Amino acid sequence: MEPLAGRLPWQAVHGDVTDDNVVCRAGRGLRTPDGIIDFGDLTSSWAVGELAVAITSVLRHAGAEPCSVLPAVRAFGGLRPLSAAEAAALWPLVVLRAAVLVVSGEQQAAIDGVNDYVTGALEHERRLFERAVSVPAEVMTGLILAELGLSGESLPTPPGAAVDLGRCAVLDLSVVSGTVDEGAWLEPGLEDRLAAALLAEGYDAVATRFGEARLTRSRVLAGVSPATVATGIDLWTARPVELPDRLTVRGDGTRRHVSLPAEGAPEVPELVRPEYAAGWLSLVADPGPLLGLPAASPPAADDLLNRRQASFASVQEHYFADPPRIERGWRHHLAATDGRVYLDMVNNVAVLGHSHPRVEAAVARQLRRLNTNSRFNYASVVEFSERLAGLLPAPLDTVFMVNSGSEAVDLALRLALVATGHQDVVAVREAYHGWTYASDAVSTSTADNPSALSTRPPWVHAVDAPNSYRGRYRGPESVRYCADAVLAIGELAGRGRPPAAFLAEPFYGNAGGMPLPDGYLAAVYAEVRRHGGLAIADEIQVGYGRLGRWFWGFEQQGVVPDIVTVAKATGNGYPLGAVVTSRAIAERYRDAGYFFSSTGGSPVSSVVGLTVLDVIGDEGLQANAARVGAHLKARLEELAVRHALIGAVHGSGLYLGVEFVRDRGTLEPATEETMAICDRMLELGVIIQPTSDRMCVLKIKPPLCLDVAGADFFAGALDRVLAEGF
Ligand SMILES: Cc1ncc(COP(=O)(O)O)c(C=O)c1O
Repeated sequence: MEPLAGRLPWQAVHGDVTDDNVVCRAGRGLRTPDGIIDFGDLTSSWAVGELAVAITSVLRHAGAEPCSVLPAVRAFGGLRPLSAAEAAALWPLVVLRAAVLVVSGEQQAAIDGVNDYVTGALEHERRLFERAVSVPAEVMTGLILAELGLSGESLPTPPGAAVDLGRCAVLDLSVVSGTVDEGAWLEPGLEDRLAAALLAEGYDAVATRFGEARLTRSRVLAGVSPATVATGIDLWTARPVELPDRLTVRGDGTRRHVSLPAEGAPEVPELVRPEYAAGWLSLVADPGPLLGLPAASPPAADDLLNRRQASFASVQEHYFADPPRIERGWRHHLAATDGRVYLDMVNNVAVLGHSHPRVEAAVARQLRRLNTNSRFNYASVVEFSERLAGLLPAPLDTVFMVNSGSEAVDLALRLALVATGHQDVVAVREAYHGWTYASDAVSTSTADNPSALSTRPPWVHAVDAPNSYRGRYRGPESVRYCADAVLAIGELAGRGRPPAAFLAEPFYGNAGGMPLPDGYLAAVYAEVRRHGGLAIADEIQVGYGRLGRWFWGFEQQGVVPDIVTVAKATGNGYPLGAVVTSRAIAERYRDAGYFFSSTGGSPVSSVVGLTVLDVIGDEGLQANAARVGAHLKARLEELAVRHALIGAVHGSGLYLGVEFVRDRGTLEPATEETMAICDRMLELGVIIQPTSDRMCVLKIKPPLCLDVAGADFFAGALDRVLAEGF
């Protein structure tokens, strides 16, 4: 502290702003600090000491590590800007504070060994100290300066003649690299193989990039982020090359790691975790110029979100307040540009997993051959229509190809209106079916559209959401929803407005994958048909094997709809949806309707559809959904025994929902907690989002290739968040 002491502003400080001395308002499930107590330590001291004491307390939190204090540092600096000297003093003060806590604790214990308060705290104080010194203070100072925007120029490369490497290829190992393709990033030894291939092409040398976050070093399912950021350059040379003395060189003849640490710097690992990269990189210079390579350009501030906001309408939201920049996906994993890999628990669209090589190959091959519209006569659209219809029971044998779920629902409604000549539609509350005019009209979920309930057109009639957990009827009582819905349909018909259709998800997706009450669809379908209407099942989320035990949601209810809509999984992310109905209904539409979609059922869409079905079969994904889903559900149910916040675990296969409540008696939804849990899960490497009109249910609908290790990782992370707090 000595060299900095004279430059640190002095003022009155509380001196002990810690968790013990902050009082909170507990509202909406989260605690908001709104007062400070215990002014016994009030004194005059360095102003930055106040922050040092507070962040030492943050460091004590369960699961915290040195970088966990950065948001607090940024927040403090935003209100009371810190000078470079104060920023430099901060981490040494944290270490000092942690040391004092250990020493004074030991001393108190020596004086007063029977004092449980003192002896109980010793272990914690020691762990706190270990945390504070787990990262070199120089690194933390570099990190804090960067966080506050106070970093100076990066360390200059010392002058000197560059070594002549001859023709040198620069190997791009970043997440957006064009060299590292498909899922190859998971293969060990990939960097060496890529370099060897370049040397074999005739290059004299191959060099990686300084400061780059390497996709090749990202690790799947790391609880903390893996070390991906290079603090030097890896070098492969065709012939032995002598390197300048001033470079620090590690490794053998074929592959050497070259770096330029600052004088007196602590030992710098070859790769560091992205959270600490700014700190470590402040201690090393770019060795590139001494190898005759261009200097690495400093990482440009990523303003992608601002650009997105400038070019997107604000209604097009994004997940998370501070989202990682995801540029890769592989199976049930997503990789961000900092080299961090996340477990993807929300992408139900990528049913086979991300970047499936068979889908990629099928699309590439078909794009090379032909892509046109379905008015042309080609095989794939016929084969896919036959395959899709073959998956459905009679009389569902006639297929319309579209590009999305919204289009599919829109068309299904139009088929029903035309086929029946009726004008009205009955739908279930709290559901989402799409954004086009008609599919939006029947969507009543206020989570998707806050004014949904007040803005329905008069032809839409919503019946109660048949929620057996928290609706009007619960548990065994929930069969009463059937009678209510039947009554509503009958009344409508009695008023001279018999519905053209009853439309619902056959497994209640928006509630987190809840089965409808037994017999619900059988009763409602019978009533709507009695009045000349049709039954539409929206299988866009729950169909295609996700439920594990059933390929289609309606099978769970033991019914056969008149019209089925599919999308999402149909194309594994490629825009492909379909409506399947009977020949009779389709023919009635022929008489009074019109249908043509320029890209629906194109040759590319059709081969995607066929490939997706092939892979679901070949990889046994429905059976996997059943097996891994059952394992995951059991793990989540076990968490519910230990964590009171979990009110219920819904779902089947890999469509599960964990519903959070503040009170298991009142079922008060834990909305704010759910969002905070999702944010904390992101930090732990899991992408998960809330659903339901109360936004208090974790919607668990990962790619169907999720394995037991992935399921366990998710359950473990959730257990940790619920135990440690969020
Ligand atoms: C049940 C259901 N139906 C329809 C849709 C609309 O599908 P798309 O987004 O492909 O238009 C969705 C989308 O979330 C959905 O979940």
